[in-house]
Amino acid sequence: MEKRSIIIDTDPGQDDAVAILLALASPDEIDVLGITCVAGNVPLELTAKNARMVCELAGRSDIAVYAGCDRPLGRDLVTAEHVHGKTGLDGPKLPDPGMPLQDLHAVDYIIDTLRAASKGSVTLCPLGPLTNIATALLRAPDIADHVREIVLMGGAYFEVGNITPAAEFNIYVDPQAADIVFKSGIPIVVMPLDVTHKALVTAPRNQAFRALNTPVGVAVAQMTEFFERFDKEKYGSAGAPLHDPCVTAWLIRPDIFSGRHINVEIETQSELTLGMTVADWWGVTDRPANALFIGDLDADAFFALLTERLGRL
Ligand code: RIB
Ligand code: CA
Repeated sequence: MEKRSIIIDTDPGQDDAVAILLALASPDEIDVLGITCVAGNVPLELTAKNARMVCELAGRSDIAVYAGCDRPLGRDLVTAEHVHGKTGLDGPKLPDPGMPLQDLHAVDYIIDTLRAASKGSVTLCPLGPLTNIATALLRAPDIADHVREIVLMGGAYFEVGNITPAAEFNIYVDPQAADIVFKSGIPIVVMPLDVTHKALVTAPRNQAFRALNTPVGVAVAQMTEFFERFDKEKYGSAGAPLHDPCVTAWLIRPDIFSGRHINVEIETQSELTLGMTVADWWGVTDRPANALFIGDLDADAFFALLTERLGRL
């Protein structure tokens, strides 16, 4: 398999943290060029702090972390402390970061890095609202040719909404940005709630993290024990859904996922359904396919991969 050069755009977030750890634990498959932070689960100051704490947990204080947009395009920020806690990374007690934040704005970093890269060579991995990605595309449309693929966590079809009855959080926070990304013409792989709600950290799976008996294993167990309560209360889930790690797992083992190449459009006008991903799963329109929309995964294979890789850190 060809090694992927990626930029992770993120709003940590316990599940973002696990996705970042999985990427950093997989240097044979993934070269993390940099991490860009966006306001989402918690405000930007905290997502930029949490991203660095996770890099240091992985022993990777060499990773360049950039702060990006602190609010969505054209609307107020909506955050999710009710899911992730007031720090955004509640659960483990991690030390404040020692590594610095880069001075360059995340959007400038994305543009500069893509322009310097050969065409179709960089994979963008957005794990939060798409504000940074959309802003970069608006300011520098030429960068689209340098993107190999966008593999993102966001949206839902059969699972509908987790922040409103119709919308998933990442898309809901910045529907205008999502609309720009989904209309960009760049190849997109979508990890919606339809698949991430099948990647549940059940008690045995959490125990397997803890049994690694490493700082990373214990911290991940503590993270998922904390953020499972929202989904357990709301959906009666058997454990925390590992939304964002589906993105980095796709880069390593796409074969454990399945989906359809379909048309996906974003509701940007209606207050009732704002941020809804209108996915033509059944092909009832002639709207052109613009995304590989993932609907299922082999959850046991996913957790075996994740646990084995976390054990390497
Ligand atoms: O709806 C789940 C998504 O919103 C995840 O990426 C989670 O981290 C939050 O950003
Ligand atoms: Ca996220």
